[in-house]
Amino acid sequence: MGPAVLLAILCLRVTEATQSSDPSLDSEWQEWKIKYDKNYSLEEEGQKRAVWEENMKLVKQHNIEYDQGKNNFTMQVNAFGDMTDEEYRKMMTDIPVQNLRKKRNIHQPIVGHLPKFVDWRRRGYVTSVKNQGICNSCWAFSVAGAIEGQMFRKTGRLVSLSPQNLVDCSRPEGNYGCHMGSTFLALKYVWKNGGLEAESTYPYEGRDGYCRYLPERSVARVTGFSFVSRTEEALMHAVATIGPISVGIDASHKSFKFYKEGIYYEPKCSSNTINHSVLVVGYGYEGRESEGRKYWLIKNSHGKQWGMNGYMKLARGWNNHCGIAKYAIYPRM
Ligand SMILES: *[C@@H]1O[C@H](CO)[C@@H](O)[C@H](O)[C@H]1NC(C)=O
Ligand SMILES: *[C@@H]1O[C@H](CO)[C@@H](O)[C@H](O)[C@H]1NC(C)=O
Ligand SMILES: *[C@@H]1O[C@H](CO)[C@@H](O)[C@H](O)[C@H]1NC(C)=O
Repeated sequence: MGPAVLLAILCLRVTEATQSSDPSLDSEWQEWKIKYDKNYSLEEEGQKRAVWEENMKLVKQHNIEYDQGKNNFTMQVNAFGDMTDEEYRKMMTDIPVQNLRKKRNIHQPIVGHLPKFVDWRRRGYVTSVKNQGICNSCWAFSVAGAIEGQMFRKTGRLVSLSPQNLVDCSRPEGNYGCHMGSTFLALKYVWKNGGLEAESTYPYEGRDGYCRYLPERSVARVTGFSFVSRTEEALMHAVATIGPISVGIDASHKSFKFYKEGIYYEPKCSSNTINHSVLVVGYGYEGRESEGRKYWLIKNSHGKQWGMNGYMKLARGWNNHCGIAKYAIYPRM
């Protein structure tokens, strides 16, 4: 293809984007780019703006419906505002979990009185919110968070653990670094390896690297792990009595990507197809208990600018919404 052809394609694209861009959004576009530190080349700008505008319109429409009482959460055009669904989905692939079911070590709920509110952040079990970046490493952050909680429970020390250690070193267990991974296989790695480094000695890079784990730098060990049986009751029991629990959810929807605050409920959410891992750090409800606005408190790994300072409230008691109880696991220490 000669340069003339290339130029023609470029011009076409730019014209297209210019035609579709809405001048009333100009200042919001500029502010958004500054807030999220975006810097595009001339060729990129038009295409990114078109994607952003589409997302902006969707979010605005959703928030109008929120004001009309049609849903219980708001959305915002966050750092993902210039990403197409396809680009976003590439970040969100967990290894399918169907074939990893284990009969052993199942956490069964014991019927009893459970607290109405649990928030392990207040008890010192939860480290700061991290950002996985464009590496598909949610599973590593989720597992690091679950071990951080159990380590605090056991030793009283709260230490950010190293997702990069998991990304680089759990390939022999069957994970694929920044391409995808499973929380179960990551925990299996920590258990077999006999240790895991801290974020401070093995910092996050957000890309694939070779394994640089050193046993003498290990700060956490696990003696095994348990699956939680697949009901919200069992998950509630585990969260109340154990601590933060690693879970898988369906996070493939725009409403999740652009979630801002409130109780997340997505009619299109699947209870079976899991493609993101997060950490449940508590549960509770809003308003009066009888109103049924119950939620799971979830720590995500999309940075503090996503959602409620990095957290989400996800609808609880709605038939395992987004598959929250489908694949819950925690380490034993
Ligand atoms: C944006 O990127 C260009 C080219 O890489 C660079 O010259 C420019 O300084 C950058 N601007 C900002 C504000 O970062
Ligand atoms: C995530 O789950 C949804 C809902 O089942 C599905 O439509 C989507 O293709 C999944 N995405 C990936 C990347 O697995
Ligand atoms: C949304 O709020 C309404 C009104 O309080 C409540 O009845 C409903 O259960 C809530 N839905 C979810 C999914 O939390």
